[in-house]
Amino acid sequence: SAKKIAVIVGSLRKDSINRKFAHELMAMAPASLAMQIVEIGELPLYNQDLEENGATAPQAWQNFRQQMTGMDGVLFVTPEYNRSIPSALKNAIDVGSRPYGSSIWSGKPAAIVSVSPGATGGFGANHHLRQCMVFLDMPLLQQPEAYIGGATKLLDDNGKINNDSSRQFLQKIIDTYAAWVAKTAKV
Ligand code: FNR
Repeated sequence: SAKKIAVIVGSLRKDSINRKFAHELMAMAPASLAMQIVEIGELPLYNQDLEENGATAPQAWQNFRQQMTGMDGVLFVTPEYNRSIPSALKNAIDVGSRPYGSSIWSGKPAAIVSVSPGATGGFGANHHLRQCMVFLDMPLLQQPEAYIGGATKLLDDNGKINNDSSRQFLQKIIDTYAAWVAKTAKV
């Protein structure tokens, strides 16, 4: 049966180009992947006091952790903020990594796509995210690397990819990720 893949978008804004690319990737995914966006915008900032010494974790953290526990893999699609990842994405990573010993990330095959209107394609965000993934023990797709630069010019007015070479590149990313999931996901 299809592997359940969480798509986590690093931007919270309504017209996010990252969200548009995430939707395009989801539409191109082979049948072996059942992809759904998991929202991260409502998670309170991580603070150990909210769940330790008798405190009950915020409901939004519990819901996120529960939803992610049922996932077989994670596709990150993120902008770059100040040459790193947006704080909302880092917060979701931190929330999912705790309580200590019950990380929801561990062992889930992941891929990272960074998307920017700028020329460097979110390289800094992409690699800062990789640093977290190494520690969180996620088998991470290495190639093809996906730094999507000049991204606003690659979309039409409906937020769809407007050219064949970008479409082919995204198809290659999602197909390679599907093969990676087939190889590395836990049964
Ligand atoms: C940016 N942006 C940006 N772009 C980039 O390529 N490198 C960077 O370091 C930054 N830094 C940065 C910081 C902050 C706080 C903001 C709000 C923006 C621009 C960013 O790529 C642009 O706003 C994208 O459109 C954001 O992605 P979404 O929201 O369209 O998905």
